[in-house]
Amino acid sequence: MKVALLMGSDSDLKRLEPCLAVLAKLEIPCLARVLSAHRTPEALASFVQEEAPAQSVRVFICAAGGAAHLAGVVAAHTNLPALGIPMDNPPLGGLDALLATVQMPGGVPVATLGAGSGGPVNAALHAARILALGDDALAERVESYRQEQAAAVVAKDSKLQARLKEAAGEAQGV
Ligand code: RP5
Repeated sequence: MKVALLMGSDSDLKRLEPCLAVLAKLEIPCLARVLSAHRTPEALASFVQEEAPAQSVRVFICAAGGAAHLAGVVAAHTNLPALGIPMDNPPLGGLDALLATVQMPGGVPVATLGAGSGGPVNAALHAARILALGDDALAERVESYRQEQAAAVVAKDSKLQARLKEAAGEAQGV
């Protein structure tokens, strides 16, 4: 079982590193490709219909900016889940890609994540949750991730409380 992370351009890659990092942390095999709905339409269709099934891909994560048709075209060529990440490119800041990705016609579903830094992380976690439906070991790792995240917030709060206490003590000359 593998995730395919597709991006419309190599210029998207830097912002997708957190997606790759979460997939790696959860030990989910992933292949990443630059494939464009507009610039390489035939190669994209052939990847989705032939190469991906041959490589045991079960979920597609598709990141594109601007007139972002990548996830929609992938969803049109497969029955596997297609998750869309709108890239927050200038000059419109990602609203263009968000609307292009999320506003699919009925019958061709794309699960769209947020534009901005949350999107790539949540795409990886959403893919993990889908794959975990049939993989108990992965389900445990997904749960551990959630617990670690909660523990990190608790630690940050403790640090903040300690700082505030110290500042209050200093103000009172203690
Ligand atoms: C989209 O066009 C890509 O996903 C990228 O976000 C954007 C710009 O691509 P480049 O001109 O940087 O290759 O298809």
